[in-house]
Amino acid sequence: MCGIFGIVTSAETNLSEPLLGPTLTEAGRRLSYRGYDSVGCATLRADRSIDLRKDVGKVDQVASRLNFQEMRGTRGILQLRWATFGAPSQVNAQPHLDSDGDMVGAHNGNVVNTAELRQQFMAEGMVVRSTNDGECCVHAVERYIDRGEDFIAAICHAYVDLAGDYAFVIGRVGEQELYAVKKGSGLVAGIGEGFTCVSSDLPSILPLTRHVVRIEDGEIVTLYPDHVELHSVLDGSPIQREIEIITESMESAQKGGFPHFMLKEIHEQPTVAGELLHVLAELPEMEQILNRLKTARHIYFVGCGTSYHACILGAIYLARLAGRPAFPILAPQFSAQYGPALDQSDVGLFVSQSGETKDVINAIQVAQSRGMGILGMVNVVGSTLTRLSEAYLPLVCGYEISVPATKTFTNQVIAFLYLAMRLGGHPTDSLDQLPELMQKTLEHVAPQIEPLVELLAPRSDLYCLGYGLTYPIALEGALKMKEITYAHCEGMLSTEFKHGPLSAVDEGYPVLFSAGPEDTPLLVSGINEVTCRGGKAIVFGQDDPSLRSNADILVSLPPAGANLNGLLSILPLQLLSYHLSLRRGFDPDFPRNLSKTLTVD
Ligand code: G6P
Repeated sequence: MCGIFGIVTSAETNLSEPLLGPTLTEAGRRLSYRGYDSVGCATLRADRSIDLRKDVGKVDQVASRLNFQEMRGTRGILQLRWATFGAPSQVNAQPHLDSDGDMVGAHNGNVVNTAELRQQFMAEGMVVRSTNDGECCVHAVERYIDRGEDFIAAICHAYVDLAGDYAFVIGRVGEQELYAVKKGSGLVAGIGEGFTCVSSDLPSILPLTRHVVRIEDGEIVTLYPDHVELHSVLDGSPIQREIEIITESMESAQKGGFPHFMLKEIHEQPTVAGELLHVLAELPEMEQILNRLKTARHIYFVGCGTSYHACILGAIYLARLAGRPAFPILAPQFSAQYGPALDQSDVGLFVSQSGETKDVINAIQVAQSRGMGILGMVNVVGSTLTRLSEAYLPLVCGYEISVPATKTFTNQVIAFLYLAMRLGGHPTDSLDQLPELMQKTLEHVAPQIEPLVELLAPRSDLYCLGYGLTYPIALEGALKMKEITYAHCEGMLSTEFKHGPLSAVDEGYPVLFSAGPEDTPLLVSGINEVTCRGGKAIVFGQDDPSLRSNADILVSLPPAGANLNGLLSILPLQLLSYHLSLRRGFDPDFPRNLSKTLTVD
């Protein structure tokens, strides 16, 4: 996820122009936890020039290579870019200049009508240098400045032209202000001694000042050296807002008010799902990926841990929606199980949050040696997997800090669902309701989880069962439990339970069932096999009279079709494992013995 930072200083207090480079570089370091692939810095100089330096790489590498430390000016902008529109490259890195180089700006978020806007800007004679959507924000303002409008009016009009969710910051030479606007992406302003600043989030502001103004969607903030002003994008009218004094610690600010990264990431799922859907709809590589899958002899979905569970769900979606079989396979077993059968007419879709898991990279090497087609599905752009793939689907979740994967799992599943729909020739509009449905599910299940925590806290042994679309959800739910509650929780196909594990059931033994709406009769049998032996059947499914009357406890999910229900079913299990982890006295973000990214065999 990109991040922006802008600062305006009072030049009058200095004989020479302030040295802004160190402050901007430090802001970049503080934004870097969001995940990024490129870094850029611009200062607006008193001599009406703009000093712009940017490149692909990490903050410290780029800052030292391009010597950010020496950058001077009265105003400065820093941006970290996480590529979605346009490959990671020097020219696509932000900030961007306008056509004649007297304005500079940078954004965070997605401008989803970038392709159309670029055509319009070029037809209007503007100089478009990159394929990045951030450049559109600058030209969208330039368009109206060139028509003689003042900055506030130009931003109001640009806001109408720029579709998507974003925030951007922009300034022009020969003035003392910077302007920023918010639509869907985070934006906070800070007011300090002799400066004001604006940023995507608090961690880059708090070391400078604890006096902040939170910007709302549809608001423009103008930064002056000693104060900020707010205007509405609807009509440019002024808005009054009290300055807030932040007392919380830096770490809690990074967690956005949540006590743990895991809970923050669970609650980010509706937002990142929406961002992913925008990106998939515009992804230039989509046709290439679909063609590769369409023409492949055999398709393999390869991953480890959580990513493997998404692969199983992906294979189910592909068969249901596109009539195409695919083999989901754990990466280290790929060669052992299929090695001799692979050839160049096969395609592997390698799935990994980090893009660095050694087991996955090893499997790619096997696929390469057989001449197979190699596709990726990955969160960290610039990772080894993105470099080894012919084409990849970015998961656009931003940085996932907590060790247990949550938002990257749901976005993997959504990406698979989207691919299956496209391959099967189905319209994808039904996915537009997903972010809202996910939000509704989180709100609906949260109060139902609380009593379960007390019930399950003393248990160190349980099962999580599912069938069909909820089979991989049961595996993933059990993995979450194992990772952060340290209980032994086995995920299993519900119908297999009677072939052995049923012997573990005695009075009060907990068995969790993830129930899809199509499979209720089958699951009811499984539930009764447990309850008639004294076990406790806790069912997660849509409200249904037969589930309600057969289960000991029903955690009800909002109604949705079977495919979407499959995806939504993981949300209560994520929340349950999080709260159980806390109740058992553990840190869900950093469970013992585990690592987020395993770069070893
Ligand atoms: C580690 C993590 C798991 C993760 C797995 C695969 O084991 O602890 O949470 O699912 O690696 O990671 P990847 O980055 O390849 O998705």
